Amino acid sequence: MKYRDIQLDSQGRLRHFLTIEGLKQQTLIDILDSAENFSTVGTRNVKKVPLLRGKTIANLFFEASTRTRTTFELAAKRLSADVLNLNINTSSTTKGESLLDMLRNLEAMHCDMFVVRHHSSGAAHFFAQHVAPHISIINGGDGSHAHPTQGMLDMFTIRRHKPDFTALRVAIVGDILHSRVARSQIHALNTLGVPEVRAIGPRTLIPAQAESLGVHVYHDMQQGLRDVDVVIMLRLQRERMQGALLPSENEYYRTYGLSPEKLALAKPDAIVMHPGPINRGVEIDSSVADGPQSVILEQVTNGIAVRMAIMAMVLGRPNEEQEAG
Ligand code: CP
Repeated sequence: MKYRDIQLDSQGRLRHFLTIEGLKQQTLIDILDSAENFSTVGTRNVKKVPLLRGKTIANLFFEASTRTRTTFELAAKRLSADVLNLNINTSSTTKGESLLDMLRNLEAMHCDMFVVRHHSSGAAHFFAQHVAPHISIINGGDGSHAHPTQGMLDMFTIRRHKPDFTALRVAIVGDILHSRVARSQIHALNTLGVPEVRAIGPRTLIPAQAESLGVHVYHDMQQGLRDVDVVIMLRLQRERMQGALLPSENEYYRTYGLSPEKLALAKPDAIVMHPGPINRGVEIDSSVADGPQSVILEQVTNGIAVRMAIMAMVLGRPNEEQEAG
């Protein structure tokens, strides 16, 4: 079964959020519009709305995270949900309990949603296939497959600065081969009608047949950055690399690192993005990461509103059994 089949209910509404691939343009726009409404909650005196009061959301992070885990927690709390943060290192899976047994125990606690990050591609899909029908799964990043909430917060950030997706040239630079973020961004950019998405990187870090994803491939960064509106830098994901795919980090920085000189090839009002964590002096120069064109910290702030929108959409969906009868 394809990832996109399982995440929609019989009415085509989001039941889980596992991948952007296959979602309709209107679904993405609905998420962005809803996030726009939620974005003011964080600036209020009382940073809460009662939308998910009485719901219980469990964060199950099997892989390290700073931004995704904490912004999911904040988003759930701002929607008035109760939040469980399971410490996987001290959970019973370290005593041999299987993932499915762990799931059954969390179900027995009447959770409503699991946010899952896992090092294996397909893990969120596996959870979605096996949870009880009333539980929703949100993918917080699975292997090198997808990171759909990151993809959506990146679209939200782009739209805030460049409202017309159909007039944009976007460059994604670096380790595209191992990047779940890049895959989710490419699906979102194509669905939202961006006419030119460029993938820039060394041959060893661009997937075979990358063009079939809907990108133009460049190995020369100077050519690839020319006249783009948005530059998205990616981290070298050494934890997913097998064998020597790269020369030294110094050599990589000289060729593919974003310096002020290389950024000057993009449009003068181009924005610079990075999903984090950033490695200064490896993929990006500090003066660019902290410079006037950088929106990297805005991405983090926007992640809260976008995750609120997605959780509210998935959990606010009417129960099909109640609808039927
Ligand atoms: N962008 C992102 O997924 O960051 P974390 O690994 O800190 O969650």
